[in-house]
Amino acid sequence: MTQQHITILGSTGSIGCSTLQVIAMYPEKYRVYALTAFSNSELLLEQCKEFKPAYAVLVNVDVNEELIQRFKDQQTQLLFGIDALEEVAANHSVDTVMAAIVGIAGLKPTLAAASRGKRILLANKESLVVSGQLLIDAVKLSQAILLPVDSEHNAIFQSLPINHQRGLTESGVEKIILTASGGPFLHNQLNELADITPEQACKHPNWSMGKKISVDSATMMNKALELIEACWLFNASPSQIEVLIHPQSIIHSMVAYRDGSVIAQLGCPDMRTPIAHALAYPDRIKSGVPTLDLAKVGSLQFEAVNLDRFPVIRLAYEVVKTGGTASTILNAANEVAVESFLNRRIRFNQITDVIEAVLNQMTINSVDSLDVVLAADQQARVLTYTVIEKNEV
Ligand SMILES: NC(=O)c1ccc[n+]([C@@H]2O[C@H](COP(=O)([O-])OP(=O)(O)OC[C@H]3O[C@@H](n4cnc5c(N)ncnc54)[C@H](OP(=O)(O)O)[C@@H]3O)[C@@H](O)[C@H]2O)c1
Repeated sequence: MTQQHITILGSTGSIGCSTLQVIAMYPEKYRVYALTAFSNSELLLEQCKEFKPAYAVLVNVDVNEELIQRFKDQQTQLLFGIDALEEVAANHSVDTVMAAIVGIAGLKPTLAAASRGKRILLANKESLVVSGQLLIDAVKLSQAILLPVDSEHNAIFQSLPINHQRGLTESGVEKIILTASGGPFLHNQLNELADITPEQACKHPNWSMGKKISVDSATMMNKALELIEACWLFNASPSQIEVLIHPQSIIHSMVAYRDGSVIAQLGCPDMRTPIAHALAYPDRIKSGVPTLDLAKVGSLQFEAVNLDRFPVIRLAYEVVKTGGTASTILNAANEVAVESFLNRRIRFNQITDVIEAVLNQMTINSVDSLDVVLAADQQARVLTYTVIEKNEV
């Protein structure tokens, strides 16, 4: 295999750092072309010292000569601003793009990579949630390769037959079983949810992740977004996907076939496994994650999802059925609601109420351009702030 040249969008985040850990094990296979961050210049510089990329990007930092020089000393050219993300994702020198920016900010550079036919390792689920049609169309048109990094989608991808793109029914698939840990509050009384603090919500029992996705896991919005993501990735209808609580996060998801077989992917809950899988696919490389010791795990539990406790799952099924900009609105309202919860402006149990109020008040349009998506996103954000300010929930 020739050396792959990689851009890591969001290299200073949880997925970005794990990706660099795996890449560090194979300097002959992977060469880092560009690393990007929002504002964490010090960690970005540390990463540049080790991986010597040609470019680094800081999105939310003003042009700064001293900083430029410090990166230059490491043989890296420092670029500033959001447009630079698209440049380093779409550049002709790049083979592979790890899309690991959090939120809708990841959309444009991921679309840019897709339009240029790159191999995209997709962690940024929001790209598919907010504009699945546009991303899938761009991938098809330019024959880009989209490999899921989200552990559940990576597990589904591994459990499906190789030619599943001809259709799930044609492949003998009865349903996809999307597993969910249920987060840290799976067994709390419903009336306790109002008092949950950001610190408690960010402490996931199995996974170590960024703040936003940790809160999403606690509300199960993460699973709601994953359900939408799975529909796009595997060309599935919502009725072909079942969400199943599995608190240990050992089975990362499953595929049930017509003949009664259920194929699952298991592993220690560590994102380096799906990252290594996507990086090397169709080969297999070591990821640094130890082999699962099932005797030590002992037993695996499962339970059906309680929609009273996790109403966002019901919302996700409705949103997929509605189509158009409904999922864009869901995502935008969630991003604002989570930020407001982390800033202690709303309570944990109000996150879903806020999102539902915004969905009920907005008009859904069909997604035929990026402008439509970005306008729906913007309107939903403004409306979410208003709903929160007016205390409408
Ligand atoms: N963490 C997981 O285990 C996991 C699992 C599955 C899927 N995912 C998905 O992977 C993505 C990344 O998650 P994460 O947990 O790694 O997030 P994270 O730790 O919060 O890291 C986010 C990365 O994106 C950068 N960033 C943040 N806002 C940005 C903006 N507006 N413009 C450009 N860059 C921005 C951050 O830079 P700074 O460091 O400078 O802020 C950081 O490099 C998310 O879509 C998440 O849903 C994560």
